[in-house]
Amino acid sequence: MPNPLHFEAHAEIYDRARPPYPAALWDRLRDNELLRYGTRVIELGAGTGLATGPMLRAGASVTVVEPGPALAARLRLHCPEATVHVGSAETAPLPSAAFDLAVAATAVHWFDLDVVLPKLHRALVPGGHFAVWWNTYGDLSVAVTPFRERVAAIVARRDLSAQSPAAEPDIDAWARQLTETGYFVTIHVEQFSWTIELSSDQIRDLFTTFSNWTATEADEAGRAVHDLGGHVVEHYVTPLIVFERAEQV
Ligand SMILES: C[S@@+](CC[C@H](N)C(=O)[O-])C[C@H]1O[C@@H](n2cnc3c(N)ncnc32)[C@H](O)[C@@H]1O
Repeated sequence: MPNPLHFEAHAEIYDRARPPYPAALWDRLRDNELLRYGTRVIELGAGTGLATGPMLRAGASVTVVEPGPALAARLRLHCPEATVHVGSAETAPLPSAAFDLAVAATAVHWFDLDVVLPKLHRALVPGGHFAVWWNTYGDLSVAVTPFRERVAAIVARRDLSAQSPAAEPDIDAWARQLTETGYFVTIHVEQFSWTIELSSDQIRDLFTTFSNWTATEADEAGRAVHDLGGHVVEHYVTPLIVFERAEQV
């Protein structure tokens, strides 16, 4: 089973290996006036601060909740202005009507939504928003690259009976799941496609951070890049869903 402590166990690699979110995503959040100077943000599952830094640089004040002490320590180093709460989204005490925007960046699939959605509803001001996005490592809409063929071969060798349900969240399914209890209403759905060139070491490190990849598999992915010339261009997608806090539940 994917393990939420996987990231904590690999905090140092996570910090250097996870690529940043695409610039177009930040442009959209600014254009839609969700993120601007003075926006009060609560970010759940903030990791090492990959999303926290750009929000602070946009002028927001950011409170983060992160259960992993090593991840939180790295976030504090990168983002000394953030208010950091070490704990889970389910147990973190959040003040009422204190935030304009709640954010979960590649994290919402780890939460107990029965607990977290009503909690965020209480923590947001009337008219507040909840923005959820995640990086998807691979883009099914583009032609399969030689590297992706090698990745598929590694995955195909896994014991299927030991595999967890699909870890890749589907954007429409998530929009439904996060609105069905009535605390939030979907107002914006968009996907950002982007590319990044990565070396064999970067691929090995990045794949090491994936909670459903073993260290042996990540090494093998790194070796595949080496065999293919030392660098590969990867096609990634970042789905974004923005919800508005429902006035009445
Ligand atoms: C894939 S990482 C994303 C981290 C960061 N948001 C980013 O964009 O890089 C998922 C994060 O969710 C955190 N997490 C897992 N379970 C959680 C929970 N119940 N409450 C809050 N955070 C949780 C993990 O510790 C990890 O930092």
